[in-house]
Amino acid sequence: MISLLSGLLFGAAAVAAPTTFNKRAPSGVPQYVVDYAPLVWLDDRDVYRPSDIAAQVDHTTPKVDRNPISGYPQPLTLSNLDALNSYGDGGENVYLTSNDDVTTVPDWLTGAQPNAEGETEGAKTAVVITVDHGGGKLDAFYMYFWAFNWGGTVLDINLGNHVGDWEHNMIRFQDGEPQALWYSQHSRGQAFEYQAVEKEGKRPYAYAANGTHALYAMAGTHDHTIPNLNLPAGFLEDHTQRGTLWDPALSAYWYSFNPSDQTFTPYDGAPVAYLNYKGRWGDDRYPDSDSRQFNFFGFRRYEGGPTGPKFKTLDRELVCPDNDPPCIVLPIKVPRE
Ligand SMILES: *[C@@H]1O[C@H](CO)[C@@H](O)[C@H](O)[C@H]1NC(C)=O
Repeated sequence: MISLLSGLLFGAAAVAAPTTFNKRAPSGVPQYVVDYAPLVWLDDRDVYRPSDIAAQVDHTTPKVDRNPISGYPQPLTLSNLDALNSYGDGGENVYLTSNDDVTTVPDWLTGAQPNAEGETEGAKTAVVITVDHGGGKLDAFYMYFWAFNWGGTVLDINLGNHVGDWEHNMIRFQDGEPQALWYSQHSRGQAFEYQAVEKEGKRPYAYAANGTHALYAMAGTHDHTIPNLNLPAGFLEDHTQRGTLWDPALSAYWYSFNPSDQTFTPYDGAPVAYLNYKGRWGDDRYPDSDSRQFNFFGFRRYEGGPTGPKFKTLDRELVCPDNDPPCIVLPIKVPRE
């Protein structure tokens, strides 16, 4: 009320952002990080929807070498998950392993369908992390979570599934103005100038591929490769569609990250420990002896789960993560080659 009044009295230079955002983003988050937050188109053929991050912990058991471990705090929550860093080589070989057989598709695995406003009600499905580099340069990471990744098909054979799936956009801002953004795709991705991408108002669109949730700047079919696996073009495709619009910023936890000491500070009371957990967010790769597994020339039907947001190169020189040179920031919207 006070800010509204002073706005009226002093001529309100700034136009208010949509009220829903202002309600959801905690104070202290730079307003431009909210105003330019991407919107994500989900493919409606995909049964795997954005998922509650805490539910992943509730429905899994930490394992090392596929064996349960003991002595960690119970219940595990987003506020103590980093206690698992005392196991499995500093946490790196800890796998949050599904309590259910995932081939039975338990409810928690299929996540939450966004409502008409794009909100995944009752489910925190995203994490926004700001990294301030000084001199007006700030990177905002919009991290999206799915409980399961369905990997697609090669020659009608389903491959590349895994429990747990983190994808992200990153927008690089200079003095509050968006310069470029990153779309993650299968441990690689694409970078575009901000002006090049499709938007709703100021907010860029990302298209999450059916099953794999790789993020693209446009709808359609996208050839992709799997690093270290040479398949002819057209063998491995992602499909994106203007299905359901998801607004991750409505159901997010918000943090700043300090690259010099690698610490997260929540903008409000959000839990932090899970961001420091060094292990995996899903099952270990099933052994070939497991009846669910299938080995297609070394590429498996079930792969191991991914690491979390901290391991997506939060401290970046370029808009792309450092493992994806050369970083070409495309001035026009084109499909991935
Ligand atoms: C879309 O994803 C679902 C898994 O959620 C899969 O069963 C289905 O075959 C996929 N459809 C296409 C066209 O790839």
